[in-house]
Amino acid sequence: MSKRGVEERYLAACAIAREAGDLMRRLYEKRETGSYKLKGHQDYLTEADGEVEKLIVRRIGEAFPGDSVFGEEGGGKFGARAWVIDPIDGTANFARGIPHFCVSIAYVQDNAITVGALCNPMLGELFAAKAGGGATLNGRPMKVSKTRDMRSATVELGWSMRRPMEDYVAMVTRVVKEGAGIRRSGSGALGLAYVADGRTDAYAELHINSWDCLAGILMVNEAGGWTNDFLAGNGLTKGNPILASNAALRRAIIKATGIG
Ligand code: IPD
Ligand code: CA
Repeated sequence: MSKRGVEERYLAACAIAREAGDLMRRLYEKRETGSYKLKGHQDYLTEADGEVEKLIVRRIGEAFPGDSVFGEEGGGKFGARAWVIDPIDGTANFARGIPHFCVSIAYVQDNAITVGALCNPMLGELFAAKAGGGATLNGRPMKVSKTRDMRSATVELGWSMRRPMEDYVAMVTRVVKEGAGIRRSGSGALGLAYVADGRTDAYAELHINSWDCLAGILMVNEAGGWTNDFLAGNGLTKGNPILASNAALRRAIIKATGIG
């Protein structure tokens, strides 16, 4: 694709993420306590997920009718030019009244992540990246941290019911034994963006879906960090383990998490 085609998609991803973020914020502020469902064990769903996804799909369809779209809630197609979207990442936080969630939009061309945009409407933060063009937060360049030692590192360890609890606990134990501080904030997408911005030093999860992580992966790489080969095998359609870190901690975090 021409540079112009990529730039158009980058600008569109940023604008749609902001618009979807505004809608998400309005829906969050007027929601009633307890108005959520569980679509599986510890897997939350709100009406807002569907509403926000519909808006994003409509906007992409209007602007790029030849591209395919896949959304977490409504499904779709993964074509050679594919938009992969998560209307609300951090749905459990949204549902329980914790203002830490975002919209995630990625554009993947021929199996390469080309554009990513994440909006956390509660903090007015727009994280964005394009391949070879750097990563930004509200327009200013992002850079990963310089932390070199696990004993001064902060590592986010994402969790879901898609992998055995014992494996998660074992990973937590290994990372803590190396001396790192750990956290789990409930949005894989923001977890990755925080690595890109140097707010944390690494993010790891034993299984994550593509809609949760593609935009964030591009941000970490464009901000000077490192990620594992998430798209290997069926990563795009079925998910994979994810590991992202600053450059200096790469070897230590691969060893501690066993992902690499
Ligand atoms: C989940 C969040 C969570 C991560 C899970 C995801 P959802 O997405 O990103 O932090 O650990 O793997 O499924 O349910 O909030 O859209
Ligand atoms: Ca998600």
